[in-house]
Parts: sequence; structure tokens; C-alpha cells
Amino acid sequence: MAVDLLLGLQWGDEGKGKIVDVLTSQYDIIARFQGGPNAGHTLEFDGQKHVLHTIPSGIFHDNSINLVGNGVVIDPVIFKKELDNLAKHNIDYKSKLLISRKAHLILPTHRLLDAASEAAKGKAKIGSTLKGIGPTYMDKTGRNGLRVGDLELEDWKDRYRALADKHEKMIAFYDVDVQYDLKDLEKEFCKAVETLKELTFIDSEEYLQQSIKSGKTILAEGAQGSLLDIDFGTYPFVTSSNTTAAGACTGLGVAPRQIGEAFGIFKAYTTRVGSGPFPTELFDEVGETMGRVGNEFGATTGRKRRCGWLDLVALKYAVQVNGITQLIMMKGDVLSGFEILKVCTAYKYKGEEITHLPYNIEPENVEPIYTEVKGWKEDLTKLTDPSDLPKEFNDYVDFLEKELEVPIKMVSVGPDRKQTINR
Ligand code: GDP
Ligand code: IMO
Ligand code: MG
Repeated sequence: MAVDLLLGLQWGDEGKGKIVDVLTSQYDIIARFQGGPNAGHTLEFDGQKHVLHTIPSGIFHDNSINLVGNGVVIDPVIFKKELDNLAKHNIDYKSKLLISRKAHLILPTHRLLDAASEAAKGKAKIGSTLKGIGPTYMDKTGRNGLRVGDLELEDWKDRYRALADKHEKMIAFYDVDVQYDLKDLEKEFCKAVETLKELTFIDSEEYLQQSIKSGKTILAEGAQGSLLDIDFGTYPFVTSSNTTAAGACTGLGVAPRQIGEAFGIFKAYTTRVGSGPFPTELFDEVGETMGRVGNEFGATTGRKRRCGWLDLVALKYAVQVNGITQLIMMKGDVLSGFEILKVCTAYKYKGEEITHLPYNIEPENVEPIYTEVKGWKEDLTKLTDPSDLPKEFNDYVDFLEKELEVPIKMVSVGPDRKQTINR
């Protein structure tokens, strides 16, 4: 038995939450392997919308186990809010939610450090979600972090104190004005830790290996997207984890040879939230329309997402580094009504035409070269049968498939679980 992966191929927000929810009925276990509450995964069904940040997107299904893996960073305060929301919808999460003891904890001071670091950067800020992701992963690799398993130790509060005190000194080191009342934040944190401790903590790599042995099916849910990967993304405007396929191995404790399908998910256009280069970004009416029709606002921060045409140079790169075996195209419905669609198929780079992603993709280094494709007029949101998809839509998908050399097996035509068409 293999572990399948579902990965975002752009700058996040591709629609991972929706598709994990759609695929969950085929899996016994859904496992998040990296990131934390910087993620916002949206699911819609039965006329209701849910946003998950740390909890895997299989949680609404009765028969699946949802595992938060060792590669994830958990903020107990945000986690508690997610649990409270599930309880409101009568989801019996205790029986189907497992947490890795090796997952690292986001402390209130990690969030403050994130804010101080961003403020100190001024114009060069990353545009972080300010959830404390960077500082928590820094403590993890710096071997200072506090882990979920530590909460089972008698002296976890002493360990917490030592780390938080160190953070306070670091905050003071940044020459910026960060206002905070740590007492209040710590009260909230300790209360949330007690809620977290009501859940089941496990040695998740052992659990997953036993599950694989006993023939259970596992889907690993990625957060963010390949272009936000700490190694392969548009550094330094990235997140602090490996969002690509290899991250699933280190974030769950499964071996490369245990990976099966790698589902790659992308929008029919491109969006990005936060700072950083974006070669196909649009600053005109077309980009505005994409944002309006696609309702492109961040699920975690509410920030307006930047919009632009599909960038096949970047997408091919993501397909390559992840070893994608099947593609899923999202939000085709948003492009209905555009006379002409543009797809970036190459970059002009230092006077030359190139088709690979270079080291520098800032506007002064690359200029996108577009291929134009005819658009479609039809509203796709009511369609369920692939044979009803308009010719121009199929031509667009066929063109992308040919360029990417991977089949597009599913297209999404609306936010609801049911607005999904298999090809
Ligand atoms: P994730 O972070 O990858 O899970 O994606 P987000 O939830 O942050 O953002 C995707 C947004 O697009 C959400 O608001 C979804 O409800 C919505 N969405 C997903 N698929 C489609 C689609 O095919 N069409 C439209 N119009 N919206 C979609
Ligand atoms: P999902 O899982 C889109 C972006 C932030 C910022 C950069 C670093 O919903 O696709 P961080 O908080 O990690 O320090 O922010 O990464 N970012 C995301 N953008 N979707 C996400 O997650 C993101 N998580 C982080 O906007 O530019
Ligand atoms: Mg999102």
C-alpha cells in the first residue's frame, strides 16, 4: 500500500481543502505533513462553508482518521478555535483526530517575534500571515523548540518559561515597537493547551507504518504551494517548510518508495497573497475581474490576493520537483466570459527566451511570453457531465495537458464539493 499526496503547485490557495474533502471517501487516513495555521483550507457542502487551518480536511467524513503529522507546527489557541467550531457542527473530532508528539508548538512569543521580524524588515517584509510560522520552524531547526510530546512531561511549564523568556529578549533586540500583554496571551495559551491535551497524542510515524502494513489507504494533505517552498520557492518570499513532495516524507515519516500517486492541484489562473515576485501578475481590469469573480481573498488573513494569468513555466517546474502523476485544475468557472486567455509559456530572461524557472524572477529579470487561447462564454458552475464542457474549455485543458505532459484528471467548476468533474 502506498501513501498518496495532494500538493498545491502555485503560491497556495489552489483549492486543496476542497479536493481533499472530495477525495477523503477513498482513504482511511488523511494526514497533514507541514505548515500550520498560516494555511486556510476552505470546504463547502450542504450550503455551508468551513475553513480549516491546522486540522486535516478529511475531518467532516465519518470514517476517516485525521492525523496532524510531525512536520506541522501547532498553535494551541488557533487549534482550540478550530475544535470549538467543529463541535458547533456536531463533529465528533475526539474519535478521529490524532496528533503527532513530534509536532512543534507555536508559542504566543513566536507570534510576537514574527510581528517584530516583519516590522523590522519594513518594505522588504515577506507579507507573512503573522501566525508565528517562521520563528517556530527556526526554533525547530535551532533545536530549541517545544513539542506536543513535551506537554506530557511534568515540567513542561518550566520548559515553556525558559523559551518564552528567551523570546522576550529577542523581541527587545528588534528595534521596533511591538505592544503586547504576555500575561493575557499566556492565559489563553495555557487554557488551549488543556484542550489540546484532551486529544490523542501518538508516535505518528509508527502509527502510519503499521497502517501501511495493514493495508490502510493514506492521503497526505499539503499546505501552501510549491512556489512557497523554503528550498524551491521564490526565496525569501516563501514559508518556512518544505511544501513539496519530499516534505511529506520528513513531515510524516514515510519513505520515498512508499509514495504512490502525487496529485498536483492548480488554479486555471494564478494568485499570490503577500509579497514576492509574480511574473504574470495583472494590474488591470482583467486581474480585477479574476479577483472579483474568483472571490480572491485570503482564507486566513482576509487579504486581497494578487491575480494573473497561468504561468506554465512555474507550473512545469512544480510538476517536476514534485513528480506529479495526476493534475487537478481548479476555478475554471472563474475564466468564463474572457474572449482571449493568455498562458505564459516562456520567459524573456537576459535577452534570451527560456522555458525553465531561473534563479531570479523579479520583474527586472523576466518578462512573460504568452500564448493566446480562445476563451469560453458558458457558465460552468452547473455542469456535472464532462461531455457538457464547452469546446474552448476542453481545448484549454488539452493545451495545458500537452505542455505539462501529465493528465488533468479532474476539473473543479465551483467551490462546492459537488462542483467537481472527473475527466
Ligand atoms: P486551499 O488553501 O488550497 O485549500 O484554498 P483556499 O480555500 O484558501 O482558497 C480556494 C478558494 O476557492 C476557496 O474560497 C474555495 O471555496 C474556492 N474554490 C475552490 N474550488 C473552486 C472552483 O472550482 N471554483 C470557484 N469559483 N471557487 C473555488
Ligand atoms: P494555504 O495552505 C497562500 C504566504 C504568506 C506569505 C508567505 C509567508 O491556504 O494554501 P508565513 O505565514 O508562512 O510566514 O507566510 O507565505 N502563505 C500563504 N499564501 N496560502 C497559504 O496557505 C499560505 N501560507 C503562507 O502570505 O507571503
Ligand atoms: Mg488557503
